[in-house]
Amino acid sequence: MANSKYEYVKSFELEDEVMLLIQLNLPNLILVRIDGRDFSRFSQVHEFEKPNDEAALNLLNSCSAAVLGEFPDIIFAYGYSDEYSFVFKKTSRFYQRRASKILSLVASFFAAVYVTKWKEFFPQRKLEYTPSFTSKVVSCASPEVLQAYLAWRQQDCHANNQYETCFWMLVKSGMTISEAQELLKDTQKQQKNELLFHKFGINYKTLPELFRQGSCLFKKKVEETVKHDENGNPVKRLRRKAVLVHSENIAARSFWNEHPSLYNDLGHFSKDIGRVEPDFVRSFQFENKLLPLTWVVVRIDGSHFHRFSDVHEFEKPNDEQALKLMNSCAVAVLQEFEDIHFGYGRVYVRKRRERENRGEEEEQSVGR
Ligand code: GTP
Ligand code: MG
Repeated sequence: MANSKYEYVKSFELEDEVMLLIQLNLPNLILVRIDGRDFSRFSQVHEFEKPNDEAALNLLNSCSAAVLGEFPDIIFAYGYSDEYSFVFKKTSRFYQRRASKILSLVASFFAAVYVTKWKEFFPQRKLEYTPSFTSKVVSCASPEVLQAYLAWRQQDCHANNQYETCFWMLVKSGMTISEAQELLKDTQKQQKNELLFHKFGINYKTLPELFRQGSCLFKKKVEETVKHDENGNPVKRLRRKAVLVHSENIAARSFWNEHPSLYNDLGHFSKDIGRVEPDFVRSFQFENKLLPLTWVVVRIDGSHFHRFSDVHEFEKPNDEQALKLMNSCAVAVLQEFEDIHFGYGRVYVRKRRERENRGEEEEQSVGR
C-alpha cells in the first residue's frame, strides 16, 4: 500500500509502542504473557493427568525454550499450567517495541511449536484439535515492578497447585466435585497442607518442583562440543543456551542476583518482597479494550517469510500449494472463531532484483 491513496488507512492502526525511558533510568521492560485458550477443555479432551500432567508441562517448557532460541532479546521466562511469561532485555528495540507485533509473534510462534512438538511428548496420543494461545504485553517501568510481577505469578502457581492437588485427591477418594469445593472453601495454606498430610499421607513439600514451583528459563553460557578435530579431540565452544531451573522464590534477591545474565540485562532486585501490592496486581491485569460498535479487523502477516519460503522451496513468484495452505488456515480461523464473518488475503511478491536495481520497492499483489 506504499504511497497509495489508501495510505491514510494506516492511521487506523494502534500506536502501541512500549516507550523506552532508559534516560530516566526507567527501562520499561517488555514482558509478554501467553496463556492457553480454554485449556480446561484442551486438557480434558487430551486426557491430561490431574492436577498436573508431566508430559504436558515438559512440552510447555520445551516450546518456551524454543521461544528463547528464536527471539534473542528474551532473557528470562517463567511458566506453569498453561501459561508462560517472557521478559525482554531492557534495551530491546525488537519490532520498534510495538506491543501488537511482539505479542502476536510470541503467541503464534509458541502455538506453532506446540503443535510441531506434540508427537515428541505424546507419541501415543493424537492431537485432536489445534490449540491457541492468548497473549498480552505488560510493561514494567522498573526492576521492582518486574519483581512484583514474578512474585505474583509464582504465588498464583503455588496457590493454584496446592488447591488443585487437594481438590483432585478429594475427588479421587470418592467426594463429588461440589463436596470437595465446599470442603476447601476459605481454607488457608496451612490447613490444605494438613489435609493432604493427615488424610492422604502426602507431604506437600516433597511433591515435584515442576508442579509446585513452576519452571524458569534463562540463557547461560554453556560449553558445548561443536565437532571433533582430525585427531578425534572434541572442539568446544561457549554457547548461550536456554537452561531450565526450578526455584522456590524466583522473585528473591538470592535467586535473581546470583545470575549475571539476569541482573545485567534486566536489573538488580534491591530488596526482598512479601505480599504483592494490590495496585501492582491491578496494573498487571489492565486490559486494553477496543471501542464498542466498531468493526474489528485483524490482519496477520507472515514474519520473515522470505526466509521461510526459501527454506521450504516455494515456487516463485507464487506457490500454489502455499497459497492453498494459507486459505485453508483462514477457513479454520473462520470456523474456530464464530464472530469472524469475513476473511481476505493476498501475498506481496517483492521483485527484489528490480528493486535493488532501481532502488525502489515494487509490490505486486495477487488477490485470492
Ligand atoms: P482461558 O485461559 O480463560 O481461555 O481458560 P482456561 O480454561 O485455559 O483456564 P486457565 O488458563 O485459567 O487455567 C488453565 C487450565 O488448564 C486449568 O484450569 C486446567 O483445567 C488446565 N490445565 C493446565 N495444565 C494442566 C495439567 O497439567 N493437567 C490438567 N488436567 N489440566 C491442566
Ligand atoms: Mg488458559
